[in-house]
Amino acid sequence: MTIEDVRSRFLKHFDGATGSVYASPGRINLIGEHTDYNNGFVFPGAVEQGMIAEIKPNETRKVRAYSIDLKDYVEFSLDDEEGPKASWARYIFGVCREMMALGVPVEGFNTAFAGDVPLGAGMSSSAALESVYAFALNDIWGGNKISLMELARVGQRVEHKYLGCKCGIMDQFASVHGKAGSLMRLDCRSGEFEYFPFHPEGYKLVLVNSQVKHELVGSPYNDRRESCERVAAAIYKHHHMVESLRDADYAMLDEVKNEVSEEDYKRAKYVIGEKDRVLKVCEALEKGDYETVGQMMYATHEGLSKEYEVSCEELDYLNDIAKEAGVTGSRIMGGGFGGCTINLVSEELYDNFVKVVKEKFAAKFGKEPVIIDVVIGDGSRRLC
Ligand code: GLA
Repeated sequence: MTIEDVRSRFLKHFDGATGSVYASPGRINLIGEHTDYNNGFVFPGAVEQGMIAEIKPNETRKVRAYSIDLKDYVEFSLDDEEGPKASWARYIFGVCREMMALGVPVEGFNTAFAGDVPLGAGMSSSAALESVYAFALNDIWGGNKISLMELARVGQRVEHKYLGCKCGIMDQFASVHGKAGSLMRLDCRSGEFEYFPFHPEGYKLVLVNSQVKHELVGSPYNDRRESCERVAAAIYKHHHMVESLRDADYAMLDEVKNEVSEEDYKRAKYVIGEKDRVLKVCEALEKGDYETVGQMMYATHEGLSKEYEVSCEELDYLNDIAKEAGVTGSRIMGGGFGGCTINLVSEELYDNFVKVVKEKFAAKFGKEPVIIDVVIGDGSRRLC
């Protein structure tokens, strides 16, 4: 989907006059999964795939929105409390309402949008949708006074309040702040972040999409978050400086082993391990030590599968194939329950890995996985 495609559909559906066009990307995450809502570190980057939206004020209080991919049209009033039912339109409605709550004098508009982030692949198509509208509304009506970090929080609040997914900040953060060629290490507590140029000499980052559709809204995602919060609260009773699992270590976790359920214990054990792995990966990257990066990725997969239990048969199989093919690092990416694995593959193994993973996966599950070469792209921006 290109800007020209979006424009031609926009002109066809509305009054024939052009508006402004914006783009926001999906994201990958090298490491640091389910750490964001525990106030830990994450290490994402934006991708080239994303959402493109054309927007033109229509001098009413109504938003008239057309989803090009779904061929669906929805109209809602900015002053409505409830908002539309269709979930794709609720994202746009939520962004409008949250921007208005921040004092941005949003007016009615016509809009058409489309995207090329595969849906349910763990690449944050929904964050791309929230971010493209948050960024655009800030540009058109907000005089760009709202900071990028606050725009990311707008998207996160939309997930919490309008879709019921208690996500962390990683996806929206990555979508608005992305920079071509760089990953970003974000401290989810302080909001401080650093760009890390990422050009792994001799390696490629490749996603393998199992095509098992994951849907975080209504999934056990929120249960995982609650497990973490229960364990943090139990530790807090013994150690008042522990506000979240970010502050906890294995010794503290063991102290409360009998006060929390076995399941909650396992979940917290994964998170405590993961927050240290992110820091180790950053150190290793600075030294060009991709073997360590890869080992940490495999350790994350193991934890997500056995302790955090957000994997599935297809993702575990993709991980096994990667290991057998000698891939340097491989793991589930994103929230889990389906979607992609992210793989750090040496260039000489790349062709063979792609061939083997397609063949073996298709032989077992009757369908080839989709290979996506990662190109780290820019964050939210106005195209014209
Ligand atoms: C989803 C959420 C993020 C994050 C990841 C797991 O993508 O939206 O906030 O929690 O899962 O790391």
